[in-house]
Amino acid sequence: MDGRDLVRSVKAVGSAGVAQGLRTVRAAWRRRRADAAALPSRGAERARVPGSVQGAEPGPGGGVLRFDRSELRIVVAGNGAVFWGWDGAGPEPSYALAGRCPEPDPRALLEPDKDGGWRVVSERMTVVVSRHGAIEVRTPGGVTLRRDQPPRWWEPAGGGPARWMQRSQVPADARFFGLGGRASGPRLRDGTYRLWNTDPGRAFGPGDDPLYITMPVQMVVADAGTHLVFHDTTWDGTVKLREGEEGAGSGHDRAGTSELRADGGPLRCWVMVGTPARVLLAWASLTGAAAVPPAWALGYQHARWGFGTEQEVRRVVAGYQERGLPLDAVHLDIDHYDEHQVFTVDEDRFPKLPQLAEDLRADGIRLVSIVDPAVRAAPGNAVYDAGTAEDAFVRDASGRVVRGVVWPGEAVFPDFTHARVREWWGELYKERLTRGFAGFWHDMNEPTSFAAFGESTLPRSARHVLEGRGGDHREAHNVYALCMARAAYEALRTLEPDQRPFVFSRSGWAGMQRYGGTWSGDVATGWPGLRASLALVLGLGLCGVPYSGPDVGGFDGSPSPELYLRWFQLGAYLPLFRTHASLRAGRREPWEFGAEVLEHARVVLLERRRLLPYFVTLAQLARRTGAPYVRPLWWSAPEERALRDCEDAFLLGDCLLVAPVLAPGTDRRAVQLPRGRWYDTATERAYEGPGQVLVEAPLSRIPVFARAGAVIPVRGPEGDLELEVWAPAPGRFGGGLVVADAGDGWDEPEFERYVVRREGRSVVVEREGEDGVSEPPHPVRVRGLEPA
Ligand code: NOJ
Repeated sequence: MDGRDLVRSVKAVGSAGVAQGLRTVRAAWRRRRADAAALPSRGAERARVPGSVQGAEPGPGGGVLRFDRSELRIVVAGNGAVFWGWDGAGPEPSYALAGRCPEPDPRALLEPDKDGGWRVVSERMTVVVSRHGAIEVRTPGGVTLRRDQPPRWWEPAGGGPARWMQRSQVPADARFFGLGGRASGPRLRDGTYRLWNTDPGRAFGPGDDPLYITMPVQMVVADAGTHLVFHDTTWDGTVKLREGEEGAGSGHDRAGTSELRADGGPLRCWVMVGTPARVLLAWASLTGAAAVPPAWALGYQHARWGFGTEQEVRRVVAGYQERGLPLDAVHLDIDHYDEHQVFTVDEDRFPKLPQLAEDLRADGIRLVSIVDPAVRAAPGNAVYDAGTAEDAFVRDASGRVVRGVVWPGEAVFPDFTHARVREWWGELYKERLTRGFAGFWHDMNEPTSFAAFGESTLPRSARHVLEGRGGDHREAHNVYALCMARAAYEALRTLEPDQRPFVFSRSGWAGMQRYGGTWSGDVATGWPGLRASLALVLGLGLCGVPYSGPDVGGFDGSPSPELYLRWFQLGAYLPLFRTHASLRAGRREPWEFGAEVLEHARVVLLERRRLLPYFVTLAQLARRTGAPYVRPLWWSAPEERALRDCEDAFLLGDCLLVAPVLAPGTDRRAVQLPRGRWYDTATERAYEGPGQVLVEAPLSRIPVFARAGAVIPVRGPEGDLELEVWAPAPGRFGGGLVVADAGDGWDEPEFERYVVRREGRSVVVEREGEDGVSEPPHPVRVRGLEPA
């Protein structure tokens, strides 16, 4: 460590000052020493490949193939996904899976293939294993979607986890998506992507990688079909991607490649094949249905690091109310804690928090609390004392409690991989509920511990219970936040059984959607940050995490009025619509950017409120089907290459196509339309896809299109549900699902199915039920019919 590191560490903590800077130096040394003592270098390694196949034992859904130096288990599950694991790995235990592993599909059989290989044939795919352990996934029609070469392991001669590598090929035209939240996406270009949840330590842009949520989940989209592949290991690793190249009919295509390296964990994976919708349905059935946020969390939310006082919260809320701007939630950051200590309140600056919460709630505004995992290590801090008595904190290899540094200074970290600790931690949310908070914002849970040098997290040698199996931070790191979310979600279900919990978390892993959503983290203020905001939401949706959104306006600095407005206009069509900024950043209230921005922002807020029933429908559909609210344009037509490469527009559900403005000085933009008729919702002008159109994008709005035939549930002027129906093209049909809001509890909402048909100059809308069709029970407004 040199002088520059010290400066970096002091800067990193800003006003917390030199004392905090010195703590981060000490913590970094401690971390280094702990790892040096407990994790000796790997020394000599022995490389291994499976060798040749020696025999097979068929079993339900597949079977086991024995190789010279390994064995491979293959099982096709009832949900159409295929699992395979080397070296005896089975699907469980797994942090990604929701409850029990799906049952094997008894119709899938292991049979001999040519050249001494084997194959498993199932309804959705054929898996062919070569004599040396290469695995090919083919469509039922026999087209290859991916080919995994035989894996390689490196085993330390002195024992310890084996590193491994798996190289795969995909079709030359394939595009890669996913891997968690990647700011450079949604299409993942050639490069190496690390699998280690990381706080970048500053506001990030598209060039920063990895970020807070990484997951070994790839969606691969090619002409031949779409598949999702999930390598179920939580260990640190990398994925090196290289898109293929087509030889323009010369027959010399170069396949795309993906090379996954992991520092440990089982070598096992799941593959799902089909349309994007089918693939995500299978993924959701494997990893769990997405939590449905309460309706208010589908509205507009305002956060701030540094409200500072109750009066300031009231002043900002009044600012919205006086101007007639809808507001649904306010988020309090760490500055409302007593000296940054989790589960406390600064009683001087927030003396009447329950009263504030009650007053806000009377106006339909909920209060959300930040929750950080790090607990100040100071006797007298009730959470520290209780956690110590409970033996809740992560220890090092020699048995000492690990100390790191976060906002409250020296801190300790609950081991959320232990059921008993999750239960203890969950109980602490009772304090928050008593204060009047209705939702929870998990932060710093990669976990982050400030360090003057080295990585800003816990020592890799720190011990974790890992549900009783025992292991270290190398294995637990990536699921730390997932387990924290589980602790909160499960406790809240007991503490407030009549309310659906609202939890969103900065970090997470495969399966996190079961407990809630996420947000961008500290996206940098600037046009590249705006673009990254959309990339993150799209990419996470394709990994099964449908609820997320950016810090509108960016986390740091001060956006220009134009940038702020464009961010606001995009944010309004993303699931989590929240303005937020750093302590040191400029304002983010819509009236702080001049009268023109305010007027346009008002339109945005009113439109978001009008679309609330549509967002409720999308949240329910995400739970039922795994389909994210925000989808890439290729969602229903992955074979259309122009759509596959389009990253500046998206579908919001089935009905809307949103084309945000992502560059300054724009007053019109090109939009790639999928097949079919699309209406510009501002002008009602019809456009025919597929193809590119040029449309107006004045400062007052971003282009939003409605699909012909769409049925969009909206909030009418009286607050009642109305159906906005976009005329099908002559001779065509339309329709869709509407899920009415059944409240913020657990009542099953009704799914209403509508059919729409064009009859000459008019449009007929009917509800389809078990006993035939009937009149819609809501007022219908038809749009897009050309004037007579
Ligand atoms: C980091 C989070 O990403 C940010 O949103 C929050 O304001 C700060 N921590 C302070 O809690």
